[in-house]
Amino acid sequence: MTFEVDWHERLDSTNAYMKGRFIQDLPFQDGFIVATREQTAGRGRSDRKWLTAPDTNLCFSLFTATDAPLIEVPSLTMAAALGITEYLNARQIPAAPKWPNDVLVGEKKICGILSERVERSTDPTAGIIVGIGLNVNMTSEEADSIDRPATSMLIEAGKGYELFQALENLFQPLEHWIGEWKSGGFSTIRKVWTEKAGPIGKPLTVHDGVVKKSGTLAGFGDHGELLLQTENGIETIWSGDVS
Ligand code: BTN
Repeated sequence: MTFEVDWHERLDSTNAYMKGRFIQDLPFQDGFIVATREQTAGRGRSDRKWLTAPDTNLCFSLFTATDAPLIEVPSLTMAAALGITEYLNARQIPAAPKWPNDVLVGEKKICGILSERVERSTDPTAGIIVGIGLNVNMTSEEADSIDRPATSMLIEAGKGYELFQALENLFQPLEHWIGEWKSGGFSTIRKVWTEKAGPIGKPLTVHDGVVKKSGTLAGFGDHGELLLQTENGIETIWSGDVS
């Protein structure tokens, strides 16, 4: 994976911009990154917005060339979350991944990831756009104004980070964990993911947008789906909010 970064002053959404370029048949390399200093209409999971002040946090999308089918997309998000976790842990920030697409410090979110599969009919190029929002220099006042518990590297480490440098320092852990995923899908990252996002047996409530299900964590399936031990047996959960 060779990383090449296309930095912008301002974009609506790095995922949307990258998708637009992809559809225009432009050449796309594995490792191509679109990053922006300001994102005006960032997108999150379940049609949520991803809000971030200008020049404060990292907002970028990374193209991973792969012909992996749609069912493998969630586990690439999980691999990227392991990369972000490793980067933060190396800076003494006790972050951990949270299923399906977050990285938290305690109960507070420090990073959200939105992955989207893209393909075109004109050539065999296909891939997954991994959109990453990492709270780098967000202050506690800004974090308090978000409707969900949030934190940042600044809040946790007590110092600010230069955004260009932070992105460069993420290359190695992202390359490592995405490489693991490429070599064998979720099965190659399952052990570490389960150690970091577990433990097995912890009580969970999952809200899939319609119903709430409670039980304990039984593990993760072959594609990264959550296995919930309930009174009625093991239920497979493909998406939802976990508390
Ligand atoms: C979530 O927590 O729901 C996922 C948030 C993902 C936000 C990032 S910021 C960079 C990239 N571009 C977007 O529009 N969204 C992702």
